[in-house]
Amino acid sequence: MERFKMTGPCNMNLIYDEKGYELDLFCVPKHYEEDLDRVIIPHGLIMDRTERLARDIVRDMGGHHIVALCVLKGGYKFFSDLLDYIKALNQNCDKSVPLTVDFIRLKSYCNDQSTNSVKVIGGDELSTLTGKNVLIVEDIVETGRTMETLLSLLSECNPKMVKVVSLLVKRTPRGSGYRPDYMGFEVPDWFLVGYALDYNEYFRDLGHICILNEKAKVKYKV
Ligand code: IMP
Ligand code: MG
Repeated sequence: MERFKMTGPCNMNLIYDEKGYELDLFCVPKHYEEDLDRVIIPHGLIMDRTERLARDIVRDMGGHHIVALCVLKGGYKFFSDLLDYIKALNQNCDKSVPLTVDFIRLKSYCNDQSTNSVKVIGGDELSTLTGKNVLIVEDIVETGRTMETLLSLLSECNPKMVKVVSLLVKRTPRGSGYRPDYMGFEVPDWFLVGYALDYNEYFRDLGHICILNEKAKVKYKV
């Protein structure tokens, strides 16, 4: 049975109904109402889980200077919200993490299929990360190829430490076995959109993580 679950550092699993939620229970942009099938992870739940990930990261990395590296474009919402929570902890806890930010733009998808090639199409020079503690912030790990490519590019620059946080990890037979250091939710093998995850650049402006319907896949196909 397909389910999605939250996993924490202490094998704490919260398992949800695999069907997600009826679209009518939530507010979605009018321009996407006809395109979505169901809400899989509501925005509020993403925020609550992100708050806890921020706490875990500060607990583990507190005291070190971190360079948070955002993997664009899909990672930008998670990156922004995660850093807001880390900033709030920095103001209110004994331990705090000095933060700087960096950006890299990677592309591997066309329509709802991975193209099997990961291209760096923009961002800062990775050589600035030499000797730094890097926290890579990604939206979703599917096959793991994107992250393995980025980690191998980064290792050429000799950072001091690299940790990866991904909001989502897809349970798929195509996976390489790669697991990030921190993850928000494990999700079934569906193509998901919203909260900056896109289908050909659409749906980044949707707050919840949702499943597209088949009509929308045709409508926005390139
Ligand atoms: P991987 O290289 O197969 O692990 O794929 C990772 C990248 O593919 C992510 O950074 C996303 O940009 C994209 N991706 C994978 N699955 C989805 C999805 O369900 N929706 C939107 N983008 C996805
Ligand atoms: Mg991504």
